[in-house]
Amino acid sequence: MDQINPELESINSLQITTKINNEKALKKMPSRTAQIRLMSSHEEVYEPCDDSFALVDALLADCNNLLKHCPTLCMEIGCGSGYVITSLALMLGQEGLAVNYIATDINPLAIRVTRETMDAHGVDAELIITDIASGLEKRLAGSVDVIVVNPPYVPTPEDEVGVGGITASWAGGENGRSVIDRILPVADRLLSEKGWLYMVTLIANNPSEICLYMREKGYASRIVIQRSTEEESLHIIKFWRDLDIEGDNEKASADKSAPGRLMEYVLTQLPPFTFWRCSDRDNK
Ligand SMILES: C[S@@+](CC[C@H](N)C(=O)[O-])C[C@H]1O[C@@H](n2cnc3c(N)ncnc32)[C@H](O)[C@@H]1O
Repeated sequence: MDQINPELESINSLQITTKINNEKALKKMPSRTAQIRLMSSHEEVYEPCDDSFALVDALLADCNNLLKHCPTLCMEIGCGSGYVITSLALMLGQEGLAVNYIATDINPLAIRVTRETMDAHGVDAELIITDIASGLEKRLAGSVDVIVVNPPYVPTPEDEVGVGGITASWAGGENGRSVIDRILPVADRLLSEKGWLYMVTLIANNPSEICLYMREKGYASRIVIQRSTEEESLHIIKFWRDLDIEGDNEKASADKSAPGRLMEYVLTQLPPFTFWRCSDRDNK
């Protein structure tokens, strides 16, 4: 019979115990994103896809800033099956921040599925069936610290927009901008002074034009994540209010003369994204 070296035996058993403890720790470590196996679903509700994952990855990439930001109210417009709002709640919940969440969707089935997804993950939000934020604007004006949106951005014939069901998940009308262009002014009204907006856009949506629109409202922007698949090239853009830009806009509107208009003209001629602010400088 082979002799077993008692020293080796104790090293082996130490390694096995360490491995088991590590596995236990990993199992106990709460996930920072929603788990696909715990997601509820319905054939008429958008399932998490590349765009949903890119948005959550952008939130994860910006998680430290989000935690320092200490938001008290976060909102998702168009929650689908709840992957994004659930992930955001898990990310911020881990640090024990007291945050309230609101999510809307025009599709009643999406609200039901999001409720089930959130329950399965032990997180909660006020869930509302509505068109963007209709009926909520007065109550929430200037009080939302973080808004996340993965809008219907696919260019489609205009008559496909707003037909409801699963079509509402992607049908974005001309340049995929019909719903996006209605969301932007609403987001501006809902965001607090320190509010941040994270939005998924497609190249076909002309993101630089979106940034220019938001710039005129006083927001700086940056790409948090850029991701290309065979079918599409996605950008997750973050917007935040910038006092320098607000000052510039005030000066420009005080002087509604030719130089102001020239400035606008120059901006529209810039290649996409060249006026985006650098993230490191702003810690945004
Ligand atoms: C691309 S899906 C994104 C779903 C989910 N946020 C995700 O990332 O997996 C877009 C969602 O927006 C919803 N939606 C479309 N138009 C809307 C509107 N006018 N108001 C509110 N929600 C809308 C759709 O029903 C759909 O659930």
